[in-house]
Amino acid sequence: MVSRELAHGIFWVGALDFDRRLFDELIPLPEGTSYNAYLIRGSEKTALIDTVDPSKEFELVSNLVKLGVDRIDYVIINHAEQDHSGTLPMILEFYPDAVVVTNEKCRDLLTALLHCPPETFKIIRDGDTLSLGDRTLEFFLTPWTHWPETQVTYLREDQILFSCDLFGFHMATSDLFITDEAAAYQSAKRYYAEIMMPFRGSIKGYVERVKGLPLSMIAPSHGPVNRRPALILDAYADWVSDAVKNEVIIPYISMHGSTQKMVEQLTDALIARGITVRPFNLTRTDIGELAKALVDPATVVIGTPTVLFGPHPQVVYATYLANVLKPKCRFASVIGSYGWGGKAVETIAKMLDHVKVELIEPVMIKGLPDEATTKALDRLADDILKKHKELNIT
Ligand code: FEO
Repeated sequence: MVSRELAHGIFWVGALDFDRRLFDELIPLPEGTSYNAYLIRGSEKTALIDTVDPSKEFELVSNLVKLGVDRIDYVIINHAEQDHSGTLPMILEFYPDAVVVTNEKCRDLLTALLHCPPETFKIIRDGDTLSLGDRTLEFFLTPWTHWPETQVTYLREDQILFSCDLFGFHMATSDLFITDEAAAYQSAKRYYAEIMMPFRGSIKGYVERVKGLPLSMIAPSHGPVNRRPALILDAYADWVSDAVKNEVIIPYISMHGSTQKMVEQLTDALIARGITVRPFNLTRTDIGELAKALVDPATVVIGTPTVLFGPHPQVVYATYLANVLKPKCRFASVIGSYGWGGKAVETIAKMLDHVKVELIEPVMIKGLPDEATTKALDRLADDILKKHKELNIT
């Protein structure tokens, strides 16, 4: 990997991971990812912003050596998760005089996760600054932009925000800067859904704060650098807002075809009422795509057969994920077919305790769908349309 210069004296020194396909052993990475670290040369001091995943530690060190970096004064750690901090121990071996600059919570986590010696830290608070001579770093604490210790770093003179996980996305590309804004938007939306959506309430305030800064670039720790910050700031303002869209998503499983038929009938009934619908067969769905689809819709309808006495286990998994991702949807319902009873609806309703949704009367049937099922699904489509009309989104 080769380092590249973002602006005079500011270098990308990170690593691209084209082959990685899973993050946190959970999140699919169809486009790989990058671990961005940045070197800033000031007239008096040199700072490294974040490090890289330990699997790529030699790439970071090699980039620094090739740039002739013989001294690092400060290593700024914006986030303790190991894809950004994991190479810190090696950096401190190569540059033993470097001071690690971060907030107190991040220091505590780095000490626990990497056994970094406490004497290597300089603790900063929200709004603190650090001079590199002709350049000034300013720190903003942004707890829960993934973990509770997260922060971002603003380089005042160059108007660059080093935002770590916030405003980034998983994409390995040889382009230093975003070149395809439409593709970047889609990847960023998926990333927002997977990582940031549970903290929507906090992130609203961070977006406003960042919008108030003079900004030439946002340099995140995943994905290419953004030279048109409005692209991501406007997208985030939309995603974190309370506004929902006239959309229904239907994650479902069907074992013998009955639930599938019901999903198809409901899909048609909703389309006929002018509502955007996206069914997701959970046996084939990329869970990241499902998360992304949860960002906007007003309503989620879960389709499930019963297995033993409750919902299908893959529906349980998807419902658990949807609950912890805390989408802003307002309504939920359940449809499906059972053989000898069961508690699918009760189980699913109980699992949605983090999502403030109103449950619209479900449609659960025994065996094959019939005419009564069609009527019941039409009633459900009518109910959904009525609820959406009350929100003025149709
Ligand atoms: Fe990219 Fe939360 O780590």
